[in-house]
Amino acid sequence: MAEKKGVILSGTRPTGKCHLGHLVGALENWASLQETYQCYFLVADLHVLTTGFEKSAEIPDNTFEMVCDWLAVGLDPERSTFLVQSLISEHAELNLILSMITPMPWVERNPTIKQMIADMNLADKIHFGLMGYPILQAADILLYRADLVPVGEDQVAHVEMTREIARRFNFLYKSIFPEPRAKLTTTPRLLGTDGKKMSKSLGNCIYLSDDDQTIKEKVRQMITDPQKVRRGDPGRPEICSVYSYHEIFNTGQAGEIAAECRSGALGCVACKGMLAAAISRRIQPVRERRIRYSKDRNKVMEILFDGSKAAQAVARETMSMVRQAMGMKY
Ligand code: TRP
Repeated sequence: MAEKKGVILSGTRPTGKCHLGHLVGALENWASLQETYQCYFLVADLHVLTTGFEKSAEIPDNTFEMVCDWLAVGLDPERSTFLVQSLISEHAELNLILSMITPMPWVERNPTIKQMIADMNLADKIHFGLMGYPILQAADILLYRADLVPVGEDQVAHVEMTREIARRFNFLYKSIFPEPRAKLTTTPRLLGTDGKKMSKSLGNCIYLSDDDQTIKEKVRQMITDPQKVRRGDPGRPEICSVYSYHEIFNTGQAGEIAAECRSGALGCVACKGMLAAAISRRIQPVRERRIRYSKDRNKVMEILFDGSKAAQAVARETMSMVRQAMGMKY
């Protein structure tokens, strides 16, 4: 095996099936990085509990659905390590240690957590664990001594905080952690079919598992330029969410579509038809592979158990370095 350039860790909270935002914002990027990096792909199930503790029993099924998508897009357990956070108790252990050396103001000013609190209306029902979200994430990253963390814009604050925590540990005790960097995807953030943030709870997602008919129907309901009422009216692609999808899923035709929308030659119905077809083309191979995995739950679970076991060996090594660095060896 050729020498890899470094270690990558990324992950998401298992909330169920993956949508197009996951595909272009994360998964395709992760898949392409496997060649050059030693990759760890984390199922951040403990992070789900920071807001979803009442629905803890749904987490294993949601994990299964999510990992079927991961496998279907080409994340490859032969080359990369899949791991489940709650199966590796070292995540909780390092989280505890790091929480001891993280000043409270770092946690309080974290913009991503503030945004979560605002989005979910949590202001008067914040739990202790939610405030610790970024510290647990730092533990995820530092346990595998990762160099790079491919994430979306909204996660950059967490990676920054991970760097600060790593630096502080290295300074207080002994330099054992690399300071990881965020690696942003180049694709602009994909909005939901209603133009708001794509999110399962808003019901505005197109899933990788959606069939052609469902895709057509979801695209049909997308909002276009309100000034373009009928074919012949000139449209403004720059404010049209259908067009923003064309730019991502139909790059070959996007230029032509923009021109014909502006001139009025192209109507929204036909334009949406082309988009639905382009999305279907892009996800069809994924969907087919997904069906195979979804019928073999034991196989998927085996991948997660094997990966978690391999990951735990590394995590244990790190914890022993941590104890050594701190002088807590008995
Ligand atoms: N917070 C990330 C998200 O919501 C999930 C996550 C947990 C993560 N631990 C991580 C991402 C470590 C990158 C690295 O998407």
